Amino acid sequence: MTADLAIEGVARRRVRARASGKVNLHLSVGPLADDGYHPLATVFQAVDLYETVTATARDDGAITLTMDWAPHLKDFASPVPLDETNLAWKAAEAVRRAFGIVDGVDLHILKGVPVAGGMAGGSADAAAALLACAEVWDCGVTRSDLHELAAGLGADVPFCLMGHTAIGLGRGEQLSPAMTHGEFHWVFAVQHSGLSTPTVFERFDQMVERGQIIPTDPAVNTEVMAALIAGDAGRLGAALSNDLKAPALDLAPGLASVIEVMESTATLGVVISGSGPTVAGLARSRQHALAIGAMITAAGVADVVVTASGPAAGAVLLER
Ligand code: C5P
Repeated sequence: MTADLAIEGVARRRVRARASGKVNLHLSVGPLADDGYHPLATVFQAVDLYETVTATARDDGAITLTMDWAPHLKDFASPVPLDETNLAWKAAEAVRRAFGIVDGVDLHILKGVPVAGGMAGGSADAAAALLACAEVWDCGVTRSDLHELAAGLGADVPFCLMGHTAIGLGRGEQLSPAMTHGEFHWVFAVQHSGLSTPTVFERFDQMVERGQIIPTDPAVNTEVMAALIAGDAGRLGAALSNDLKAPALDLAPGLASVIEVMESTATLGVVISGSGPTVAGLARSRQHALAIGAMITAAGVADVVVTASGPAAGAVLLER
């Protein structure tokens, strides 16, 4: 899991970790609470699109961050901050603070999850960076130590640590694993112009004020849970839902035609992932997902089309 890297005669410990992106199978959003967050009931599923974080220890206390794109996103590169505002950098700082570490780290991210798409790419970076930094600095942590740090970094980071399929309550950080059967195959229509999560939640609040949305107490969709246990993709497709669809469409009206095209293919169901703008379609098989992907590409309604399957693992250390 670790390697020693000889640079300028000094052995530097190096660790690689990876975490998956996600799709929300169902997202029920309650009214804005006093803490500035919205209570949620959601079902996350991790899909096999990966963020890979390499952490190389430095003894001068500095943190650096570099990034590359995985081949399927090479033509899609969007700007990502490579400074202390990046969630992976914040994750390294959080581990340092929690365990009294004075060493630094060179972080490198290989991006496989689309940026600002509602698929938790940044949160996956944070989850992988938490694991890699804890290992490279030999902190001797447990998963529950990391869960606590993850929740402090963002609502989706705990799920990116955990992976597979899970119910998320509270802000999304109160997780319980969901029973599932078999694999589910997805096609994602991704847009260059991302949507910011706080902006989508703000628009949700404005639409509540205008009476365009009547928020209810968030509740887990039992039909989604039953479809997952049965491994019934058709049933799951019919039950997919997201309360952030209306505000995402209000902010990005062009998404309506993406949804329409996706629905006109033989998908089992279509949903906006998280706060969007990625539109996810559920397919019968990996081949079916590729065929739908080709139709979306031909229709010219997405900047990039990506296929993936879930449930995928959470954050794991990789052997070199
Ligand atoms: O936790 P995270 O930093 O990812 O959340 C980004 C923003 O999204 C929050 O500051 C908040 O405005 C909004 N949010 C929310 N309710 C949630 C999760 C996120 O209002 N459950």
